[in-house]
Amino acid sequence: MSPSLFPQHIIAQKRDGETLTREEILAFVRGATDGSWADYQLSAMLMAIFLRGMTAAETVDYTQAMMHSGRVADLSSIRQPKADKHSTGGVGDKVSLHLAPMVAACGVTVPMISGRGLGHTGGTLDKLESIAGFRVNLSLDDYRAQLKRIGLCLIGQTAELAPADKKIYALRDVTGTVESIPLICGSILAKKLAEGIDVLVLDVKFGRGAFMPDKLKARELAQALVAVAKALGKPTRAVLTAMEEPLGRSVGNALEVAESIACLRGEGPADTMAVTYALGEQMLLLTNTARTPAEARAQLESTILDGTALKKFTEMIEAQGGDARVVEEPGRLPQAKLKVPLVAAHAGFVQDVDAMDVALAALRLGAGRAKAEDKVNPAVGVSDLVKVGEPVAAGAPLCVIHANDEATLTAAKALLEKAITLGTKPVKPVKLIDEIIE
Ligand code: URA
Repeated sequence: MSPSLFPQHIIAQKRDGETLTREEILAFVRGATDGSWADYQLSAMLMAIFLRGMTAAETVDYTQAMMHSGRVADLSSIRQPKADKHSTGGVGDKVSLHLAPMVAACGVTVPMISGRGLGHTGGTLDKLESIAGFRVNLSLDDYRAQLKRIGLCLIGQTAELAPADKKIYALRDVTGTVESIPLICGSILAKKLAEGIDVLVLDVKFGRGAFMPDKLKARELAQALVAVAKALGKPTRAVLTAMEEPLGRSVGNALEVAESIACLRGEGPADTMAVTYALGEQMLLLTNTARTPAEARAQLESTILDGTALKKFTEMIEAQGGDARVVEEPGRLPQAKLKVPLVAAHAGFVQDVDAMDVALAALRLGAGRAKAEDKVNPAVGVSDLVKVGEPVAAGAPLCVIHANDEATLTAAKALLEKAITLGTKPVKPVKLIDEIIE
């Protein structure tokens, strides 16, 4: 190896604020993939990138190297356009579950490789696994075959896909280097671009319940993600959405599946459907399935009205080994032992529902995980949550707590009492869809 590609040399270059060559970036990503760089060298490099940043060209090279650190799914034998949506994560964000079948019912193939919940945000895979028998660990070959057959597949990351991210993400998590825009671009886009998609729509969230609370920072991230994906030949748009209160009325794995089924029946909460349509419209526009947002919206709405989206969802559950009877009978989803309403002490208007406190309550009930190896409880969480701006009567329920024991019920109740604020004056809900970044 040329001395210029020694880890210590590349680390020192970045430490001193130099721009790295493509070869140097490749050497770093290869070092993470094949283990030829020690964890302390990778960690030092990550901190150097965190502190010094990367130019746009370096970020593109880094993302491309991350994407090619493993297999890139070849879906070229599928003739339909292929679109995916990715969310940076929020509280009660179950949109992927019903948006994917809605878009697939419009004739767009939706290859979706999703993640698990970590910290305060939920994960699509955990939600799907609350359906008995549902398998998220398909091989890339089975994934391709299902996409060909029904135009829709939701699975977890395989070991073959962007393996460098697995190593680098785990180190970022423990070295204080998560919140770096070039590192986030490389991590999110490497996985998404390796799925074999033609176009990508991103839901970049900001606010208390988001991974990036500051709106300006979230916009900067959205712009970087769109620019890098475009430079790599994938038309991409980002929708900047607020995450101040939870999305919808349920937080918790099975409870969110039930709410997504309600969305597919045309009975979804208004805020959840607003985000769903905003993202779905961009997926149909980018794949030239619709010419205008209004046309895209009409196509998406018709998949709910004529039942084709619900049918697609059912087909996907059956294809992945799940008990599809939950679609007709959501009561078959896992149920918590205790279902206790939290009632309003006085009448008023809902001023605030703090997404972070609701997430902490769900976490305390066992719906999420603090460490990657923790198990989630599919049944527990919060449902029937009031929304900001709604009037409530004294003694009326503010939400229902689903718990498996008295201790977690009491802890969650205290957090939810703090999360929900009532006042005398009506307030306007926060604007959800802030901006579309093209
Ligand atoms: N999600 C990812 O997959 N990677 C990041 O770096 C941040 C969020």
